[in-house]
Amino acid sequence: MEQKNPEKIPNWKSDFPISTEKATHISRREFAKFLGLLSGVLALSNGAIVIKALAFPSKPLEGDHFVCNEDEVPVGKMIQFEIQGDMVIPYILIHLQENEWRAFEQKCTHLACAVRYREEEQKIECPCHNGWFSADTGEVLQGPPPRPLPQLEVVRKEGKVYVRQAEEPYAT
Ligand code: FES
Repeated sequence: MEQKNPEKIPNWKSDFPISTEKATHISRREFAKFLGLLSGVLALSNGAIVIKALAFPSKPLEGDHFVCNEDEVPVGKMIQFEIQGDMVIPYILIHLQENEWRAFEQKCTHLACAVRYREEEQKIECPCHNGWFSADTGEVLQGPPPRPLPQLEVVRKEGKVYVRQAEEPYAT
């Protein structure tokens, strides 16, 4: 076995005398502390989202609001948009089928995560807790959301897409 010559040990090793084994070992207590900290951070961020949603409730929209030109969203695709003067709520516009458009609030009715249209499923998904909504009506199909997604009425004029406040309940 080769003897190590202490004089050949690089300076930085003598300055930082920590063995690899000690440096990579994580005790159960340290891991439990990390999990506790992570849970706290997640709870705080979820709480902030809920407080924001409660502090800034949805207001009824007035008038028609331009979203995009029809040819900007192919069939099966979705875009996210906001309404001028109401930056609190993000919305999604879905080009469901030829001449079929839908617009919903993008905030999940469970804990306000951002929902997205899944073209291959033809449904709206909330990835936070596996919630699913109908892309046609916004009704809850699966998961913890307690209410349907609020929906806007989509109006098309001369190749342009607008949204307006929908009658309750919104009929397509
Ligand atoms: S926040 Fe959407 S399912 Fe929980």
